[in-house]
Amino acid sequence: VTHVKNWIAGFAVLMLAGAAAADEAPDKIIICQGCHGDALVSQNQNIPTLSGQQPGYVQIQLYLFHEGGRKAEGMSEVAQGLSDDDMRALASYLGSLPKPQPPAEAGDPARMAAAKALADKEHCNSCHNPDYSGHDNIPRIADQREDYLTKTMRDYKSNQRPGYDATMAEVMQPISDQQIVELAYYLAHFR
Ligand code: HEC
Ligand code: HEC
Repeated sequence: VTHVKNWIAGFAVLMLAGAAAADEAPDKIIICQGCHGDALVSQNQNIPTLSGQQPGYVQIQLYLFHEGGRKAEGMSEVAQGLSDDDMRALASYLGSLPKPQPPAEAGDPARMAAAKALADKEHCNSCHNPDYSGHDNIPRIADQREDYLTKTMRDYKSNQRPGYDATMAEVMQPISDQQIVELAYYLAHFR
């Protein structure tokens, strides 16, 4: 019995060690910071914030960049140099960082209300969660950069960005370009 208890205690320590290691910054994070920001909150146009992003989603996207299914200058080359273990460690670490904060200035109430009505009608919140925090392979989109949100929704609609499956291309088909602009505004100011 003592023997079993020791084994269980040892296993618990191992698990704890594993959990702690997951939230330690992987060495390769320094490459990412050059474009995605020192705190992984992007200050650069059309480059997404990664802090607090869903680990399952990040891992799949890194894999897509690695395999060439999703393409972006710079990002594709970086992903090609990542191993499966790198992708797992980076995804887990990014998911452990704080979620992005809404901008200090609240969105224009009329624009926010109109875009919310559109997002509700299109059931964006059924997959992305009512607070747009995402889960598993579905990304957090609350308080992402507005320029990146606009660009990436346009890319889905034009099939520039194929995605892991066709879900977002289908979702975007009935959405006009003006509506994409308004949805990006709403999500980027979400609070
Ligand atoms: C040369 C600049 C550059 C570097 C370095 C870089 N990225 Fe990126 N990354 C981008 C750009 C640009 C995009 C957006 C691509 C697009 O528009 O589809 C992106 C997108 C991503 C996405 C998709 C996010 C989303 O919301 O869909 C992930 C995940 C990501 N990068 C992770 C990383 C990681 C991890 C590293 C470091 C190992 C890294 N990036 C290094 C430029 C870079
Ligand atoms: C049926 C589920 C579903 C619905 C409904 C849905 N999404 Fe998505 N969304 C996804 C999935 C899955 C992804 C990731 C796809 C991929 O691999 O690129 C995604 C990705 C996104 C992204 C990319 C975020 C990033 O970081 O690159 C944006 C922006 C987005 N969705 C906005 C919306 C908006 C706005 C609506 C409503 C008009 C919506 N979604 C409705 C499932 C959904």
